[in-house]
Amino acid sequence: MKTSDDEIFDQIAETIGRDGWCVFQNFLSDSLTSQLASECITSWQQGDFRRAGVGFGAQRQVRPEIRSDHVMWLDPLQLSPIQQSYFDILESLRLALNRRLFLSLFEYEGHFAIYPPGSFYRKHLDQFKAVQYRIVTCILYLNTDWRAEDGGMLRMYCDPDDETSFLDVLPKGGTLVSFLSAELYHEVLPARRDRASITGWFKTRTT
Ligand code: OGA
Ligand code: MN
Repeated sequence: MKTSDDEIFDQIAETIGRDGWCVFQNFLSDSLTSQLASECITSWQQGDFRRAGVGFGAQRQVRPEIRSDHVMWLDPLQLSPIQQSYFDILESLRLALNRRLFLSLFEYEGHFAIYPPGSFYRKHLDQFKAVQYRIVTCILYLNTDWRAEDGGMLRMYCDPDDETSFLDVLPKGGTLVSFLSAELYHEVLPARRDRASITGWFKTRTT
């Protein structure tokens, strides 16, 4: 993936415009993916993560029966060079989404996430009810050799009219999943080994 790969960004934007979601394998090169993965694991081992919460602002709560992953927010002003390359790629995707879908996305926020063995995230939408600035979710997986037996699948409920139909996505390194944050219900099934990702959102201005 080069930041000049506009065709790929346009293709992702077009797919989201048509279906509301897009799963794109090998979005990043193995080398960029593995460098991001090793930074994620190092920060995890250093204890830089905290338990993820649900809800926004004063409503935020740690509810391990709803989600039991751990996160480390990425400060756009203090990124490592490798993290900056990923943010630069997402910036090109943001421009393509605006160009193709007229979304007025103006900023990205994201975090590393680790699901240790046994952790999960129950079915939910990503947009908060109180503040609706999260418009498009982007998840990049950082796991090498992930197999179906390792669990931790992302279950996407792609058909809003049929609760029983879903698509399970393996969290394989380099795969990018993006979808409309207010519309697509999804959940993370229990992982059986540490499951790493960068999850984030393109936002609109809240006024
Ligand atoms: C989230 C989420 C999905 C995944 O963090 O909101 O749904 O596959 N993550 O990690
Ligand atoms: Mn989610």
